[in-house]
Amino acid sequence: MSRTTKIVLVVWILALIAGGAWVARDTLRPEDPQREAPKGFFSGENSLAASIGGPFTLTDQNGVERNDRDFRGRLMLVYFGYTYCPDVCPTELTVMATALDQLGTDAAQVVPLFITFDPERDTPKVLKEYVPQFSDKMIGLTGSERDIAAVTKAYRVYYAKSPGSAGAPYLMDHTSLVYLMGRDGRFLTHFTPNGKAEDMVAAIRTALAKPPTPASPAPPARP
Ligand code: NI
Repeated sequence: MSRTTKIVLVVWILALIAGGAWVARDTLRPEDPQREAPKGFFSGENSLAASIGGPFTLTDQNGVERNDRDFRGRLMLVYFGYTYCPDVCPTELTVMATALDQLGTDAAQVVPLFITFDPERDTPKVLKEYVPQFSDKMIGLTGSERDIAAVTKAYRVYYAKSPGSAGAPYLMDHTSLVYLMGRDGRFLTHFTPNGKAEDMVAAIRTALAKPPTPASPAPPARP
């Protein structure tokens, strides 16, 4: 076997294992009857809602690698955007920051994440300038094109470059939803654009009032 053939074979096997693990995660995960539908839930689309989110490994504004498991035990308030955004992103991030302020000490149990889908321009250095404008607690995350494509797919985020007028920097069309993820990393609810910080606070307090769910049982071993 040539070296190239070996590499291709190994990559192919790894892809097969990863694919199998992904399918197992989606099909074997038991429905949790304890999960209620808070206000703003994708009503009637529960299976879609339950599948929002997933693992990620990205780099924060200090250049430190962070993954979703780092935040287990706390809620994640997740927003996808880009720092060049003239209006929508700053507006939503301001609502998030206001909600965190209103939460007072409970804010310690919530991790606000800003994940860029413009890694070409949004380097850790750029994020370090940007996120503190909204909140000291906010974590900005960026990564490779591939990592960003994966996390945006997991969260069902749409984004596309929109060419600016001659010489102007490009803008991006994108969905603008804030996701609230549970202590176990699973989707709880989302907030639509131009919502009120008060509604975010109410949903967060509802989620915090629930006892932490025990870790999911391991999927049954496959024959
Ligand atoms: Ni935006």
